Amino acid sequence: SAAVGIGGFAIGGQLAGAATADPSNAGSSGAAPGADIDLTADIVEFDGLHQAGIATPAQTNVLLTSYDVAQSASRADLAAVMKAWTQAARAMTAGDAVEAGPDISTGSRPANLTITVGVGAGLVQRLGAQRPRALVDLPAFTGDQLDPARSGGDIVVQMCSDDPLILANADRVITRRAENTLTVRWQEQGFGSTGARSDGRTGRNLMGQLDGTNNVTTSQLATSGPIWVDERDPGWMAGGTYLVVRRIRMLLGDWERQNTAHQERVIGRTKDTGAPLGGTMESDYVDLEARNADGSLTIPADSHVRLAKPSSSSENMMRRGYSYRGAVLSDGTVDQGLLFISFQKDPTTSFIPVQQRLAAHDALSEFTVTTGSALFAILPGTPTASDWLGSALFA
Ligand code: HEM
Repeated sequence: SAAVGIGGFAIGGQLAGAATADPSNAGSSGAAPGADIDLTADIVEFDGLHQAGIATPAQTNVLLTSYDVAQSASRADLAAVMKAWTQAARAMTAGDAVEAGPDISTGSRPANLTITVGVGAGLVQRLGAQRPRALVDLPAFTGDQLDPARSGGDIVVQMCSDDPLILANADRVITRRAENTLTVRWQEQGFGSTGARSDGRTGRNLMGQLDGTNNVTTSQLATSGPIWVDERDPGWMAGGTYLVVRRIRMLLGDWERQNTAHQERVIGRTKDTGAPLGGTMESDYVDLEARNADGSLTIPADSHVRLAKPSSSSENMMRRGYSYRGAVLSDGTVDQGLLFISFQKDPTTSFIPVQQRLAAHDALSEFTVTTGSALFAILPGTPTASDWLGSALFA
């Protein structure tokens, strides 16, 4: 089956096709590839076996917030927050008013708002719940320059919408409902391309590459496939998945000094069309065996796509990343790059070995610095409107 671009950068039509193939959480924005998507009006169903915001089409904006649990907070306090969050998220994603809201987005529609919640290993242990085998402490990766204040955390909330003002409102609602129980540890804002999303193209990242071409396929999404956990996970995770977040700064000055041919060898795809080297179209097969006339590998040994390509299905992950732009650094450059976001059923067989390969050999590493990193267990969805997020963990 053809690869469906899911992650990368807000890939409207293709992704919508993928999401409607997933019976467990069919978003309402099931537009055909290339069809215009109304970026302001649509609603993504909150309730389902799985949480929305994972296999549902990637919106143009993300707000990721990691919270720490206050020392004094009890299990009952946390359960109360989860119930309040579920109720508020269900209302906001449907376009309904919430009590005591800040009214920032009055008059705006949800614009495909999704709110997705997960927990960190530290909190699972503190609750005395069974720590899933896959919820490891991420190992140190060569080259990382992690800032602890931008890494880890007890609870994560991923919010996505096609309207950034909707996210600003939802963030105030969610954060205020956790006052006294949770404190914000870090927050990251990311964006894609509204143009690419509305007409179903793959978006570009800040290095100028088409990003999100080879991702999980429609048929993989329709099954439990590469994302949702299986029976090896504890009961409180049934219907859940694992989220990896990596805040990857791009050294754009260095990158932009390379000529296009070199940039293309670093990735293994052409910049203009996104075709694999040796191919002509973005959707062409990435042929790792192909050789140039002189016998050298067409897709170089140290190119990103060669090293990132899953060596078996257990390495599959679904990328759903965004670009970010942040503060001016002391050297006068702007801190900007990729908020790498991936969902996978088992990071120990997918993200971790792939990242180890990239850290050791990827030609792209010369142009990136990873400054934030986290792994969270994403809670199961709420199958019915009387359920609340995390009931099997916090009750
Ligand atoms: C593919 C860019 C980091 C995993 C790609 C492609 C680009 C790209 C342009 C080719 C288009 C596509 O298939 O989506 C980047 C940039 C990164 C980055 C700019 C950092 C700033 C990562 C990381 C991982 C990763 C950290 C995982 C550990 C993958 C995978 C593919 C891919 C699995 C698809 C390979 C295939 O099967 O063809 N990336 N990437 N990337 N990337 Fe990255």
